[in-house]
Amino acid sequence: MKRVGIAILGLGVVGGGTYEILTRNREFYQKTQNVDITVESVLELRRERALSLGIPEENIAGSIEEVLANPNVDIVVEVMGGVEAARNFVTLALKSGKSVVTSNKELLSKYWHELERLARQRSVGLYYEASCVGGVPIIRTLLDGLQANRIEKMTGIINGTTNYILTRMTEDNADYANALKEAQRLGYAEANPEADVEGFDAAYKLSILSSLAFHTKVPFQKIYREGISGIQAADIRHGKELGYVLKLLAIGTNSQEGVEVRVHPAFIKADHPLAAVNNSFNAVLVHGDSVGDIMLYGRGAGAEPTGSAIVSDILFAATHSDVQYSTFKNTASAEKDVRFITDFKSAYYIRLNAVDEAGTLAKITGIFSKNGISIVELTQKGSCVEGRVPLVIVTHETREQSIKNTVAKIRAAGTLGTVEAVIRVVMG
Ligand code: HSE
Repeated sequence: MKRVGIAILGLGVVGGGTYEILTRNREFYQKTQNVDITVESVLELRRERALSLGIPEENIAGSIEEVLANPNVDIVVEVMGGVEAARNFVTLALKSGKSVVTSNKELLSKYWHELERLARQRSVGLYYEASCVGGVPIIRTLLDGLQANRIEKMTGIINGTTNYILTRMTEDNADYANALKEAQRLGYAEANPEADVEGFDAAYKLSILSSLAFHTKVPFQKIYREGISGIQAADIRHGKELGYVLKLLAIGTNSQEGVEVRVHPAFIKADHPLAAVNNSFNAVLVHGDSVGDIMLYGRGAGAEPTGSAIVSDILFAATHSDVQYSTFKNTASAEKDVRFITDFKSAYYIRLNAVDEAGTLAKITGIFSKNGISIVELTQKGSCVEGRVPLVIVTHETREQSIKNTVAKIRAAGTLGTVEAVIRVVMG
């Protein structure tokens, strides 16, 4: 039976989960995969953490050099997080001729080109299923299950923290600050929640997923990004009354016109397949030219779900002699001939606090009409308070720039009221 030795860099939540799975299922992998996987080395500064997981003292390394000098280590698993130290350690591992499995989306979205170049030079593998959507095997699905298709669209809920917060706001009528506190209390959100709530985490993942799906490098910088920290409870409530659910969506499309990639909060219809994805769950809806729609659903974070993705990569690396690299020219920036659409089309939900005077409504709708925007629905929400009434407008699909022009005109008029919220409505 083939024997494969592993080193784990970092025994945090994911590193610990990976160790547990590998230990618990060792005999199962011997039987089902004909491979004996052993953890030969770990790099973890908190020795007591390593010991508490049952890792023998002699397997706790004191440096990356010690890990890489161990001849029994074939595959290095990077689950440290952070970027610079991880980049350095992964680089050293690849240079030593070890295959690498990583869960590090930020590292990959920033330095994928550099690390993959090195992996190719050394003929070793670089695997990263756990970097996107935790335990949901979206990367393997794109590479090995859907490769017959031209992927035309991907829409995902790929950040569990924000999905948990928005679920609390929707189901419990919580405001953003309280929902965030609850997410922090339960360990779904970090003490500094910026990477999740401002959409960075989802944008790193979308950069990786859309590059794979569209076979072209989609750098993180090309992704339009807007987070959920400005979302108000009133809009979730009004949206519900209109039959919508608010989600932080990651959307990638590839068409004749070009590639469109964006992360932002959006209303979707309550019967949309992604509307039922709640709490910290993730899902990705993929549309391929042959298969049509498929949806993957599951846990995007956590010790064992993410460990599941890591161990699947370890098993792939351990049982395949050929290594698998990206299907596109993996460069630091996008290829010159790829067109990125920034003035994308969407329907919009707009909430105004309008001045309650004769003619205001006509002037506001006039501005929409001058910008070529057709209104689907206009509702007054509640009664006049201090001379202002809340108005909600939902538009037909229009260009982003037309909405920006419309909002700017309403604001510039000064006498019509204030624009309190602009939220995209995603129909497809
Ligand atoms: N913080 C991420 C999330 C998990 O909330 O989905 C790891 O990417």
